Amino acid sequence: MEEKKTFRTIGVLGSGGDAPGMNAAIRAVVRAAGAKGIKVYGIMGGYRGLLDDDVTLLTDRAVSNKIQLGGVFTYSDRCDDFRYLLYPKKDEDGTVHQELTDSIQARVRATVTKYGIDGLVCIGGDGTFRGAADLTAFGIPTIGVPGTIDRDITATDTTIGYDTTLNTAIALCDDLRDTCESHARCNIVELMGRDAGYIALYTAMASGAVAVIIPEMEYDLDAIVAKMNKLRADGKRSFLVIISEFYPKLGEELKDKLMKETKALADETGDPSKWIDTRFVRPAHIVRGGAPSAADRILATELGEAAVDLLLAGESNMILTKQNGKIVSVSVKLSQIMDKMYKDDVYTGRVMTNGKRYERKLKPGEFESLTPEEQKAATEIVARRHTEFRDQYEMVNRLAR
Ligand code: F6P
Repeated sequence: MEEKKTFRTIGVLGSGGDAPGMNAAIRAVVRAAGAKGIKVYGIMGGYRGLLDDDVTLLTDRAVSNKIQLGGVFTYSDRCDDFRYLLYPKKDEDGTVHQELTDSIQARVRATVTKYGIDGLVCIGGDGTFRGAADLTAFGIPTIGVPGTIDRDITATDTTIGYDTTLNTAIALCDDLRDTCESHARCNIVELMGRDAGYIALYTAMASGAVAVIIPEMEYDLDAIVAKMNKLRADGKRSFLVIISEFYPKLGEELKDKLMKETKALADETGDPSKWIDTRFVRPAHIVRGGAPSAADRILATELGEAAVDLLLAGESNMILTKQNGKIVSVSVKLSQIMDKMYKDDVYTGRVMTNGKRYERKLKPGEFESLTPEEQKAATEIVARRHTEFRDQYEMVNRLAR
């Protein structure tokens, strides 16, 4: 039987888009490991640090005064090359770049050997977990901690950074409401979240938006305009519409449509109040910055410490999740399959026209490769997420009057 690995030194990294609370998670990893006599290195710039030997010793003092800071003080990077750790890059003409994979492997091995890194805690989203799974296959134990503002890891009820971003987005919308109401306008706000609508949906709910457009649900611009016309006739002065960044052109399109059609209506009826003057706002990365909320600091602290425990217990290729208030570890494979199920039209009943989702659909046999218990858990969690979306989306629309 394989001897249980003895851990003396571990690494921690934040990778992909930074998220408020990542620093709190790193602090928890360092302090939890330190309490067990384990040395911790920060891998600077995420996976890039492994390639470039950019590594910093993180002592208890090095993580002092970091819990309250946004961003990630060990820096982050979307390190494209790391994708080729196991699978060589292939050009369109079929040329295979094995030399790139060989060099990446040699560089990672050199860094890990130099610092004696026995395992890694990888904080980030689905891309980070793909990298962690590859590292595990390469022989380095890894545990993933979900840190992304998008909340798009289906296996977990929430992710580090999401709560802060939601609060930042709501505060922005509150400010917009002031000026919107003064001028009797509509403000359309585009919010981040990649292909998940959590940030947009819950910002819409908490800021009283009149409409929300998210990837998970069909939308109808004519219906939105008709609703606003009706509400304006009823005396409503200002409107807020939230659109997910999944539809990058839609904000401007809706603005133009609304201005043009309501202007025509105003001219036709001779009633200038029917015109809905509209502005479009894209806060973009602003919602990703700022000091982490209480909820994110607490989640990060809990998951950071649990990640160290799991790694030292000899587990690998797992991510930590929060499910119904409990910390639960799931395999990266199960987490990835759940993400695909969440986005799969077979499960959502939706057919996307832009092709994005088809690429990420479950492959034949993937679901069946799970154990019966995993299949049950995945089906239940995905169904819960879809029901939540439908219910909450309908609630936003029901109350938007
Ligand atoms: O995944 C976090 C996120 O902020 C997404 O919401 C957004 O689509 C993306 O990252 C932006 O990426 P970048 O920071 O590379 O522009």
